[in-house]
Amino acid sequence: MASSYGYPFKQQHCLSISQFSRPDIETLLSLGEHYLDLDVQKSPDRTILAGKTLVNLFFENSTRTQKSFEIAGRRLGADVINMSVAGSSVKKGETLLDTAATLNAMNPDILVVRHNASGAPALLAQKLSGSVVNAGDGMHEHPTQALLDALTLRRVFGEDLGGLRIAICGDITHSRVARSNVQLLNMLGCEVRLVGPPTLIPSDADRWGVDVFHDMETGLEGCDVVMMLRLQLERMSGAFVPSKREYFHFYGLDRAKLTYAKDGAKVMHPGPMNRGVEISSDVADDPHLSLITQQVESGVAIRMGILHALSDARDDIA
Ligand code: NCD
Repeated sequence: MASSYGYPFKQQHCLSISQFSRPDIETLLSLGEHYLDLDVQKSPDRTILAGKTLVNLFFENSTRTQKSFEIAGRRLGADVINMSVAGSSVKKGETLLDTAATLNAMNPDILVVRHNASGAPALLAQKLSGSVVNAGDGMHEHPTQALLDALTLRRVFGEDLGGLRIAICGDITHSRVARSNVQLLNMLGCEVRLVGPPTLIPSDADRWGVDVFHDMETGLEGCDVVMMLRLQLERMSGAFVPSKREYFHFYGLDRAKLTYAKDGAKVMHPGPMNRGVEISSDVADDPHLSLITQQVESGVAIRMGILHALSDARDDIA
């Protein structure tokens, strides 16, 4: 790693954006850029993870994140095992720590975990001998999503994202994507705004280093990028919005509201989308506006980069 990318990446795990230094982030993004090249991605160096085992342990549903880790691991030569909770002993009452002990006995080199409890991946990282990657923990963090979003932005705006004005809109309170993205985009010098109804903006958001807006018209003004988030109904107890229809009226992104942003502004969404709730199909499916497909492409590339970096860091201390 040190020889190919100039900076000695020493992190054993990928648990949160806050654990990384700026040079760590640059290493991961440049590796992601390397794997964006389809020729490299389709016929990569399969010795990078050869002989290593990657376990995907998902306690919550996932399409893109789980599949992209699976593809990334296989392309780099790892043996990949997918464990979903529906088919595991967790359903029979096993605790997280017992699951960890069982997994540890199987010696996975990398464990990718998604869990509805904030901090679950960090707990597993203390108990396991391999590397742990946080694929989303509760409302806390989703670091690989933030990294793939930054990689996507670099493809459009170039390497230096400094000064870009980015609005993250919608259900911020329940969003781990928002928490990871705010930290990473701030680190990269962007001007980050949060836009949403007061019920969906966390009360401590004024300490996140962002500007908070409660209406789309002022919130989107001058924005280069509008990142929409899903209403995370599964994390809500009680009603946070009067109705989906009313929510779309005030906060759903359609062409009319997009005119509040800069001319040529780009639209992002981590998926899965609720069409007609936080975003109109018309905007989501317009390839001139929407970066949503590119986000999925960047997801595979950045996860190859992350697995590569973690594996090299571990080999260095072995
Ligand atoms: C996000 C997640 O799981 O936090 N999705 C994803 O990873 N692509 C966002 C969401 O579920 O709305």
